[in-house]
Amino acid sequence: MEIWKEWTQVLITLLTYKVALICLVLYLVVKYLVIPLDWTKELDESGYGYVGGSGFRRLSQIKRIRRARKIGDVPPVYPNGWFALAESHQVPKGKTLHVSAMGEDFVVFRGLEGECFVLDAHCPHLGANMAVGGRIIDNCIECPFHGWQFDGRDGKCRKIPYSDKIPKFAEVRRHRSLEVNDLIFVWYHAEGEEPTWFPDDIPEITQRKYIYRGRNEFKINAHVQEIPENGSDLWHFNALHGTTVIFGSNMAADNSRWNFLRHIWDSCWEPSTDPDSKHLGVSRLHHHVEVFGMKFGILDIDIKQIGPGYVEMKFTCPLGQMFVTQTVTPVEPMVQKVVHRVYAPLPLALYGTFIIIGESIMVERDIMIWNNKTYLDKPLLVKEDKTLAKYRRWFSQFYTEHSPTYAQAKKSLEW
Ligand code: FES
Ligand SMILES: [Fe+2]
Repeated sequence: MEIWKEWTQVLITLLTYKVALICLVLYLVVKYLVIPLDWTKELDESGYGYVGGSGFRRLSQIKRIRRARKIGDVPPVYPNGWFALAESHQVPKGKTLHVSAMGEDFVVFRGLEGECFVLDAHCPHLGANMAVGGRIIDNCIECPFHGWQFDGRDGKCRKIPYSDKIPKFAEVRRHRSLEVNDLIFVWYHAEGEEPTWFPDDIPEITQRKYIYRGRNEFKINAHVQEIPENGSDLWHFNALHGTTVIFGSNMAADNSRWNFLRHIWDSCWEPSTDPDSKHLGVSRLHHHVEVFGMKFGILDIDIKQIGPGYVEMKFTCPLGQMFVTQTVTPVEPMVQKVVHRVYAPLPLALYGTFIIIGESIMVERDIMIWNNKTYLDKPLLVKEDKTLAKYRRWFSQFYTEHSPTYAQAKKSLEW
């Protein structure tokens, strides 16, 4: 009898371990293979890894660092171009979204036929924010305050529920928008000019050939120009992104024990020479890993910088290709929202997840620099840094006479 009891006990224990193991495997499969990863960090959550303490004390230290920082002689803060206001899934049919960016308040909404529109958020009648409580009727948004309806296609008022007559001038500013690659862009131009170029369509994304593997999102304390400048800053790759990704993103810590394992980057950057696509900057990154002096090729990344706020990246590894989109949107003069979205073919789904994790850690290293640096209008460059000078000349095409300066933009935020 005793022996039976013992055997039953052993069996139960084994089964419990087996069930626990199966549950763990299932959990890992669902987490990393099925559910797209979302790596979202707020302003104080990345780039300040060196700030000690926790909770309120840490937050107030970060606040002090931000306030005391010398931002430098920054260029105008809102360049001309296409900027992402939202990702498509954030604006389902019949829904509204309030986005504050480039000193404007936008309402982004999707009509009942599926088309996306961008209007000024504030109703011209009495100033209500239509994104907050506004209802969608066909292609119109109805203001929650008195029920006026505005058409997303032209901004014109279509209905005033308590008046027979609609004044001719009753309209709200409509913004030129575009939805591509699961992103909703708005055109911003300080002189009010129409777009002469557009973000490219990536068939692997728009035709759903690749699956969406996830995203990261960061709020960064920096001037908008600093973020794409990274691609032309060829010498920062091996310095900042050389330490193995396993080390993490706090570059203020001692990383010397990881020296046996390093990422090596070869890079180049060129502005487009085609007069019809001078808004393009093109670069290529070759990545290999060095372990105890032995080198292994890992990735090639072809990068297309499309205007000031959008980047398309094609990752090529021995197993296949992946696409990553990057958007940079100035939500305040010195605060950028940066989003990366990753798409991979089904067999590379897990690799897509690793790319998000690895890329997020690498971007957080850049954020530590961006959040704490000053902008040098006349940096001290050596001849090997010539791509940086080229990049700045290229980027200057996105500023025009009335592009808002830091002081102007800051003033409009004060109240
Ligand atoms: S404020 Fe919008 S309808 Fe009156
Ligand atoms: Fe970088």
